[in-house]
Amino acid sequence: GELLPWGGSVQAVYSPIYIRDSSGELKPAVIGSYPLGGEDEAKLALQAAVTAFDAGKGEWPSMSVQERIKRIWVLIQHMIRRKEDIVKLIVWEIGKTVQDADTEFERTIGYILESIKALKKLTNESSQFIVQQNFIGQVKKVPHGVVLCMGPFNYPLNETFTTLIPALLMGNTVLFKPPKQGTLLFEPILEGFAEAFPKGVVNTVYGRGRDIVPTLMQSGDVDVLALIGSSKVANSLKKMHPKSNRLKSILGLDAKNAAIICADADIALAVKECVAGALTYNGQRCTALKLLFVHSSLVQNFNERLVEEVDKLVVGMPWESGVTITPLAEPDKPAYLVNCIQDALVHGATILNNGHDSQTTTGSLVKPTVLFPVNEQMIVYREEQFGPIIPIVPFDNPQVAIDYITQSPYGQQVSLFSSDPTTLSLIIDRLTGQVGRININAQCQRSPDSFPFSGRKDSAEGTLSVVDALTAFSVDSVVAMKH
Ligand code: G3H
Repeated sequence: GELLPWGGSVQAVYSPIYIRDSSGELKPAVIGSYPLGGEDEAKLALQAAVTAFDAGKGEWPSMSVQERIKRIWVLIQHMIRRKEDIVKLIVWEIGKTVQDADTEFERTIGYILESIKALKKLTNESSQFIVQQNFIGQVKKVPHGVVLCMGPFNYPLNETFTTLIPALLMGNTVLFKPPKQGTLLFEPILEGFAEAFPKGVVNTVYGRGRDIVPTLMQSGDVDVLALIGSSKVANSLKKMHPKSNRLKSILGLDAKNAAIICADADIALAVKECVAGALTYNGQRCTALKLLFVHSSLVQNFNERLVEEVDKLVVGMPWESGVTITPLAEPDKPAYLVNCIQDALVHGATILNNGHDSQTTTGSLVKPTVLFPVNEQMIVYREEQFGPIIPIVPFDNPQVAIDYITQSPYGQQVSLFSSDPTTLSLIIDRLTGQVGRININAQCQRSPDSFPFSGRKDSAEGTLSVVDALTAFSVDSVVAMKH
């Protein structure tokens, strides 16, 4: 509810986009800075959130749903006024194409509007009385308390808001730490938080995660951990909470989504969906296709067509027309990917396309690289590359792919490509319950946002979608009377 002055140290923000310095050397552009808060700022924010919630009796949790929605509208209007700056910062901070950054903004506004609609419906339903046996009762959805929201670098605005907005709509107060890459874009939004909400309702803490988040978690005052990120981080944060049985976690985590391209698949369709599924935003999506299992009878034909499409993709800057492959947001990612490629080559794969080579892979740009044949000895078989590499595994028996998915530590989504309903239903039967979503003749993806978005094993905890999120950020409170 207020913007505090800052006199401490700051962190420079480097763009993944390289520019030439005065000596002509290509270097990451410095695009701004943010305050480096620490333990003191974390405690201040926490105190503000706890006080504003006031055990459910604070102004925000006790405000009517209609009034809360009005306040969210103030935020929406502010964001729309600042859209140009927000989109520009997404482009420069995380290297997303201008078109994709614009889509991220619009999708976020759409998500908020859908959430408002769903909340009105939910509120209407919960105002009804339930009459059963000799009881008459009413179920109200009430907030949990203080929610710690942390989004990922790849959808810094959208995926932060998929937890922050439902948390707020349901009456919780929020602690928010922006992602390491994707911090500056919240600067134009802060004034909107201040204008829309009472003091202490949204508390943004800037700084390094390790200097802030342990203080918040160890306090025991965080009621909900809402994190879209890695399972390693989620596990370590959960362990820090002194009353872990009272902590609710809503988590979107790692994934190694596979596609199974069966002998009777429509090759053109499978190629189109796999290229988009693997390489949209350079493969830096949790839902990206990260391993393709292709039946041996069509693998040569599939590979030729896939390579043709991949080599058409334009590698360049996010504002250039027709560009798909852009600078990678995480500074250490290019070296990791080059190591994955070299490891695959050592273990018997070849690069099928005009992919990575030491001359053309410079700075933060890595060319899309198709690797074949991939086997279980390779890093790209096991690890979530989160980058523009397409590993292809040939198979004769689909059981190989089914076993891979059932034995994987992850379980987010899978894509099946086949024209035969019997083949499809056999594989669907085997994979139902192993992953959060099975896509038929289509790439893996989160949308439509009204679909439940979840996963099994190390891929998720809880379900996020418009309606599911409202439920996740609230608890049922029942009043029952015997008659
Ligand atoms: O990075 C993980 C996102 O949830 C992916 O979302 O499928 O809409 O790109 P998306």
